[in-house]
Amino acid sequence: MKKSSFVWYPNTQMKEWDSFGEIKSAKGVWLTDSKGKKMIDAVASMWCNVWGHSNPELVKAIINQSKKLQHSSMFNLTNEPAESLGESLVKISPGMHRVFYSDNGSSAMEIAIKIALQYWKNIGEKNKTKIATVENGYHGDTFGAMSVGYVPEFFGKFRKQLFSTVQFSVPNKYRIPKGFTFLDYQNYCLDKIEKRFSKNNDIAAFIMESGAQVAGGVIIYPKDFQKKISQLCKKYHVLFVLDEIATGFGRLGSMIQYEEQKSIPDIVAYGKMLTGGYLTMAATLTSKKVYDSFLGDFNDWKHLFHGHTYTGNPIAAAIANQNIKMYQRNKLIKKIQKTSKVFEEFYQEISEIGVVGDIRHKGMLMGIELVTNKDRKTPIHPKKSINKIFFEEGRKQGIYLRTLGNIVMLVPPLAISENELELLLNRTIQTIKATIPKII
Ligand SMILES: Cc1ncc(COP(=O)(O)O)c(C=O)c1O
Repeated sequence: MKKSSFVWYPNTQMKEWDSFGEIKSAKGVWLTDSKGKKMIDAVASMWCNVWGHSNPELVKAIINQSKKLQHSSMFNLTNEPAESLGESLVKISPGMHRVFYSDNGSSAMEIAIKIALQYWKNIGEKNKTKIATVENGYHGDTFGAMSVGYVPEFFGKFRKQLFSTVQFSVPNKYRIPKGFTFLDYQNYCLDKIEKRFSKNNDIAAFIMESGAQVAGGVIIYPKDFQKKISQLCKKYHVLFVLDEIATGFGRLGSMIQYEEQKSIPDIVAYGKMLTGGYLTMAATLTSKKVYDSFLGDFNDWKHLFHGHTYTGNPIAAAIANQNIKMYQRNKLIKKIQKTSKVFEEFYQEISEIGVVGDIRHKGMLMGIELVTNKDRKTPIHPKKSINKIFFEEGRKQGIYLRTLGNIVMLVPPLAISENELELLLNRTIQTIKATIPKII
């Protein structure tokens, strides 16, 4: 019997769904629904789960902190978990000096945009008002975040209301424009940035995801691409703003992705995995140079006008503290680097499937691009939502999958074991094969 629901679900054509599978419990990488069906959480519950579900240490951190202080404001007050988390975040983030808390990634990016724009006002540079971005970047669903991360399919309806940005291309090895080698195209993209930076001194900040674009199609940047952009930003006095919400904290195989990319930003945002996927919290960190520009006499009005009700929530901060300790104690980054090799063992088998055009993988992230014609690289585009087709077939196979357009996303909990990952990849292959008659 159809169960009535009063809830409107995210990114969902509600008419397509009669009801939604209810998750009753979860342990480790396994979700169990109300019918007793067990599924591997292939998307880490929206890319945020680190240790698996019901981790006793993280649950204990929530309980202990809840008994002491569940929430108090950060307006004129502070709390110990938020203070100690601030210290740990600064310690693990080279070049960073201060942390501003919020409760989701979109807000963390809104804050990054406001800080970047106000920085130039604070130091008396009136012309630095434009933001540079990259095609298919994704930074969240609020208006500022949509403006700097324009993905046409997601945000086209609001185009007129979004603020304009100066947009550059990111080289995607699978779709290089005609007449270019991959290296030529990278240099072409960098050259475009440099030409624009040198033409007019009006760019306040360059904003990009760190290491790879995730929601925009799993585009992993070629070596040194991000580093060279950071160098251009330094050369032309543009603030370099990185979004590590989806790609930091181990997702791409290093704790702080910008360290691996040798590109220290002026501002960086963390979210998703910050609390291990247990509570909602995000953070925007800035360098000393940026932070100091906000200092002055009260009547200079240089302070940052931004604040959320749950800013620096003590329970979220306590769990983030515990989470970071566990990364260090369990040497999680090393473990990810080892487990991630399991993906490579499956490249061949996945690429032989008739609809698989490209596989893009780094760390604990894999995107499998589906096409109707391998030579022409035509994206599959069935009449029904691909996401629903894959969700239903995945459930039968015992995996919780969410696709992004024509890309099957594998974004498992970071501490997944090698055996579990093998199982997930085998089941993903079965799922793709079973969907072929429905998607082409
Ligand atoms: C790179 C990136 N930035 C920002 C966000 C927005 O985070 P949230 O969904 O917590 O608002 C996301 C979400 O997927 C993301 O992938």
